[in-house]
Amino acid sequence: MIFAANWKLNKNPEQTRQFFKDFALQLPQNLQSDCIFFPPATNLEAASQSLKDTKIQFGSQNCYLQSSGAFTGEISAQVVKDLGGKYILVGHSERRTYFGENDAFIADKVKYVQSLDLIPVVCIGETLDERLNGKTNEVLYKQLEAITQTVEANKKWIIAYEPVWAIGTGVVAKNEQVQETHAFIREYLIGKSFSQDLPILYGGSVKGVNAAELADIANVNGFLVGGASLEVKSFLEICTAVK
Ligand code: PGA
Repeated sequence: MIFAANWKLNKNPEQTRQFFKDFALQLPQNLQSDCIFFPPATNLEAASQSLKDTKIQFGSQNCYLQSSGAFTGEISAQVVKDLGGKYILVGHSERRTYFGENDAFIADKVKYVQSLDLIPVVCIGETLDERLNGKTNEVLYKQLEAITQTVEANKKWIIAYEPVWAIGTGVVAKNEQVQETHAFIREYLIGKSFSQDLPILYGGSVKGVNAAELADIANVNGFLVGGASLEVKSFLEICTAVK
C-alpha cells in the first residue's frame, strides 16, 4: 500500500518539522507500506531535512515544465529532486479547477517529471455532474488518453483516482463505485499494455474509519489523503487501519 499525504496550502516550515518529528516517533517500525508527503513548496526544505534519515518520502504538489528561468511563481522539479524528493503530484483537481490546467498541460508535466527520473502521481477524476450524467468512464478515458500519450511506460508513475465530489466534502465514494472505477482504470491500462502492477490510489475523504474497507477493494493500491493527513493521529489511523 501507498499512503500519500496532500497537505495542500497548509502548515509552515516549523509545523512541518514538528509533524515529522512526531510522525517518525509514532510510525510503527514494521509498517510495510510507503508513506509519501506533499507539503507546500515553501516547506520542502524543512521536509527534506526532517526526513533525511528516514524511509518516509516526499515531493511537491506541482511543478513547471522547466527547471529554471523566467517563470515567476513556479516550482522547479529539479530543485525538488536536489532536495531529495522523489515524487511530484500532477493534475490535482484543484490545479485543474482553480489554475486552469488542462489535459495537454498535465500530460506535458508527466513527461517532464519522468524525464528527471522523478515519479509523477497523476490525478484523474470526474465531477458530480459528470457522475450523475453517467459520464464517469468517458471522462476518465479522456484524461487517461491524454496522459498515456506522453507517459514512458518503462518508467514509474502512479495514478490517483479522486472523484472531485468526494474531495474535502466528507462524502466518500461508495465501495461499489470505487471498485467499478478502479477496475475500469486497470482494464484501460492492461489494454494499453502498461504495467499491470501500476499503483492506483483512491482519494476523496479517506479517514481512519473508512480506510480498511476501501483498502480491501480490488485494484485499490493506496490512498491520497488531504484533510486527514494534516494531523499525525488521523493520518496514522489510516496507515495502521490497513492490514
Ligand atoms: P481529502 O482530499 O482527503 O481532504 O478529501 C484529498 C485530495 O484532495 O487529495
